[in-house]
Amino acid sequence: MTTLTRSVGSRPWRPQSLSSLCALRPTRTRFIATASTTDDTKPYYVTTPIFYVNAAPHAGHLYTMVLADVLKRWQLLKGRKAILLTGTDEHGMKIQQASAKAGSDPKPFCDKGADIFKNLAARAELSNDHFIRTTDASHKEAVEYAWHLLNERGYIYQSKHQGWYSVSDETFYPESQVHLVLDPPTGRKIMASIESGKEVEWTSEVNYHFRLSAFRDKLLAYYAENPDWVTPKAKMKDVVSAVTAGLEDLSISRPSSRLTWGIRVPTDPEQTIYVWLDALINYATAAGYPWAPGSEHTGGWPADVQIIGKDILRFHCIYWPAFLMALDLPLPKRFLTHAHWTLGKQKMAKSTGNVVNPFFALDRFGTDTMRYYMIHDGGIDDDTDYDNLYIIERYKKGLQGGLGNLASRITRGKGWEVRRAVKRFSGDPRSNSPFVQAHARKVEITEFEKLVLDFPKDVDSRMESLRPNLALKKLMKNIYAANAFLQAQTPWDIAARLKKGEVVRNTQSNEDAERQMDYIIYLCTETLRLAGIMLQPVMPSKAKQLLDMLGVAEDKRGFADAQLGADKDYGASKVPQGKGQAGVLFAPLMSDS
Ligand code: MSP
Repeated sequence: MTTLTRSVGSRPWRPQSLSSLCALRPTRTRFIATASTTDDTKPYYVTTPIFYVNAAPHAGHLYTMVLADVLKRWQLLKGRKAILLTGTDEHGMKIQQASAKAGSDPKPFCDKGADIFKNLAARAELSNDHFIRTTDASHKEAVEYAWHLLNERGYIYQSKHQGWYSVSDETFYPESQVHLVLDPPTGRKIMASIESGKEVEWTSEVNYHFRLSAFRDKLLAYYAENPDWVTPKAKMKDVVSAVTAGLEDLSISRPSSRLTWGIRVPTDPEQTIYVWLDALINYATAAGYPWAPGSEHTGGWPADVQIIGKDILRFHCIYWPAFLMALDLPLPKRFLTHAHWTLGKQKMAKSTGNVVNPFFALDRFGTDTMRYYMIHDGGIDDDTDYDNLYIIERYKKGLQGGLGNLASRITRGKGWEVRRAVKRFSGDPRSNSPFVQAHARKVEITEFEKLVLDFPKDVDSRMESLRPNLALKKLMKNIYAANAFLQAQTPWDIAARLKKGEVVRNTQSNEDAERQMDYIIYLCTETLRLAGIMLQPVMPSKAKQLLDMLGVAEDKRGFADAQLGADKDYGASKVPQGKGQAGVLFAPLMSDS
């Protein structure tokens, strides 16, 4: 007798209770054992959607990747084990047609497409632990296994299916969701989806169905118990309304005569598995599914946060949890759905050619600047119009004028020594404050101190509520506040007076004046240090450069170190601070238009 044998870590596993699974004989060991998942604790697991390989990536894809990467890196910063999955969606009618159009066999066509997305991930400095391809053998095994299980449990049946299919969206639409439109480029009258505007074609065939309708109540109960399951709340509401309105069973295969490019139904090679069922399972495949009892969590499942664009909400927040419930697997903990990038106020989409090439953008502005721009401006609730002028503006105002300027004023300032200020006030800065001691605390100083004190928790709470855009905006607000504080406190005046031997107002001695000046410098330096630590997930290289400029030790760059007064040892720069470009964080852009 043959049995399904899966090797997870060193343990072979045989799901003997499932007789029909005996036909499956996986040939390889799963790839869940990564450097970050060597013990039994569940890593924080973040996923991006997997990208269709039928056309080149655009800036919208880069955005999804960067959002996910920032959320993963934030957890790493907080000292958790965290993993990130991205990859490519390679089966289905859309890819079959695109490869035929390109005059290529599907597999080499997909190989090329997957390489481009891999390159994009590398160029964007994505810290992905896995890059899954749905054509991977391990994924095929996972999908076949899931199919068997769904079948065994009675969730799959065969019947005739008629409906409107959109190849572009890879989905059936009910009659009420399509309408006749005039196609502007061709002048043809076509049937199209009301929701996506994509052409649909009438299909009538016998195929397999999944009993989605059986999950209506269970899904609604789950949503009610987990009201924050989807961010933003408006999208959660949309999901609840759609399910409340009723669910039809889902067609989950196509005749292989029409759809050859996909995973065959294991018990019926005349049918090919529906691409969305195939694709959604990737998130489990990469976490080692099917896992041996007892090692469910080692590969990361359930995902802690899954990032998706708003256009794929239904698949992820209705179909996917229903599949998981049917498979008796835990549901992902949270979803972050984001809005779209538009170009000239039209959705950026490869089907219309209205796209920004992300490679060009990364080359022109640099990876960190693009990551900053995408997180800062990218929409969660509302769409954002992409514009090179906005990137330049963000660079000049936020990075050069805000962060770079503060770093330069503090580290290259004449008349004070950062290291001396750090030595003086780290530890317990507030009780040590010269203003406290002189009983003459100025209101602005108290306010600014409070800002620095609350800085880490203010950024963290926004990140944890899946609002990296708000976290970054808050971080930048503190940078602007530090610049304004510096401007108001004019430590350079104190320095000049001290140099000339003049008496400084509101001070009792030169020593007192110097302490006051150092305290002002210290609060701004701390703002920079905290910002540098917390910017690492967004701008890994620039944050490193900033922390090097401040002389922060490599092992003091975690979130726990991002507290006012927590680091006593920094302040002696690791980079040359002379005139010119050395030590300049954000050089002028090559061209401004
Ligand atoms: N293959 C499916 C996802 C399967 S996941 C199991 C798919 N692929 S896609 O290549 O079309 O889109 C991938 C992601 O990019 C989706 O989250 C989608 O929302 C996102 N974007 C596509 N166009 C976008 C913009 N214009 N702006 C922002 N994100 C966009 O869907």
